[in-house]
Amino acid sequence: MSLLSLKPDPLVGIDISTTAIKLLELSKAGKGYKVESYGIELLPEKAIEDKKIDADAVELIGNKVTALLKRTKPKSQFAAVAISGPEVITKEVVMDKIPDTEMKEAIETDPATYLGQDIEDIELDFQVLGPNEREPEKVDVLLAACREETLEAHKTVLDLAGLKPKVIDIEKYALERAFVMIAKNDPDINEGEIIALIEIGATTATMNVLGDNQKIIYSHEEEFGGKQLIEQIQANYELTYEEAHLGTRDGGLPDSYETDILESFRDEMAQQISIMVQSYYSQSTYGKLSHILISGGCASIPDIVKHVETKVGGHVSVANPLASMSVASRVSKKALSNDAPSLMIACGLALRTFDEY
Ligand SMILES: Nc1ncnc2c1ncn2[C@@H]1O[C@H](COP(=O)(O)OP(=O)(O)OP(=O)(O)O)[C@@H](O)[C@H]1O
Ligand SMILES: [Mg+2]
Repeated sequence: MSLLSLKPDPLVGIDISTTAIKLLELSKAGKGYKVESYGIELLPEKAIEDKKIDADAVELIGNKVTALLKRTKPKSQFAAVAISGPEVITKEVVMDKIPDTEMKEAIETDPATYLGQDIEDIELDFQVLGPNEREPEKVDVLLAACREETLEAHKTVLDLAGLKPKVIDIEKYALERAFVMIAKNDPDINEGEIIALIEIGATTATMNVLGDNQKIIYSHEEEFGGKQLIEQIQANYELTYEEAHLGTRDGGLPDSYETDILESFRDEMAQQISIMVQSYYSQSTYGKLSHILISGGCASIPDIVKHVETKVGGHVSVANPLASMSVASRVSKKALSNDAPSLMIACGLALRTFDEY
């Protein structure tokens, strides 16, 4: 198994995120894809902190994955998961053209030189990207590294649920894959346009910009997300974390929720997006954004597009990575369409099944 590993068996994408475990399995259907199975299992507070599986929560999360498998019945027993957070390092370096085994050895013996820091118990992977532009006799190499311990928790969770980990991906690459697929399939997006994807989950708001080379060329992260919304609901209505979290998804909150809490959160969210877009324009020279896509759980907040359009201007829409896909009859289309904007990572992982990704 490896961090950027190559072609696997059919895979089920498992996104273990701050608030939930999200499962997605895709198959090929004609020229496109089909959602074979999907499901979300909510997690209790603090099972994941700073995007890391809490050591005491491994068993609980394993049980949640087991429950999710029982409910969604995916065909594959091979999984793709993603790791993220400050502990994961990715870097592009220039190396001599040497056989892969020698390359691995060179990096492993001297991680500090290649990664810019010394890591103990390192789990390392690399991918040769191609000849270097300035020194064509050398190659550009993408390195991915993390501590063994970071991978161990994910492996144990999958193992407890009887899944075999086949691909351990980096969250940003999984996101990029789903992002590229949306850009390719959205009839409103033309080739060569520069698009921003702003993901607002529970803890973080992340802006990624896709360049005309189909790569993420700009990333920026802020601490902002649905967690604030949940905390406010808890405080206002004396609810538990679980009740408040469910309330944001499924409703059933007091009538005053909309005017007392949601309205101002929606404004803050639009404001946050506006700040991120402005800082993109002031910090980068990549050019005008032709579209702003919003993803993450908070993209499902009613009327959010209208608010962001008013505040930021331009062409704004909710990202739906599954929009171009057909859906198996046993999958609930209604639930899927509410959850789709929060399935970017799960989708990017499930896409690893296919040769073209
Ligand atoms: N209508 C809605 N449907 C689903 N989630 C919603 C909705 N409205 C608000 N949210 C909030 O979205 C958040 C969940 O989003 P998401 O699933 O993208 O987060 P996450 O991936 O678990 O978190 P993170 O990316 O920060 O690790 C929760 O805080 C939830 O309360
Ligand atoms: Mg997320």
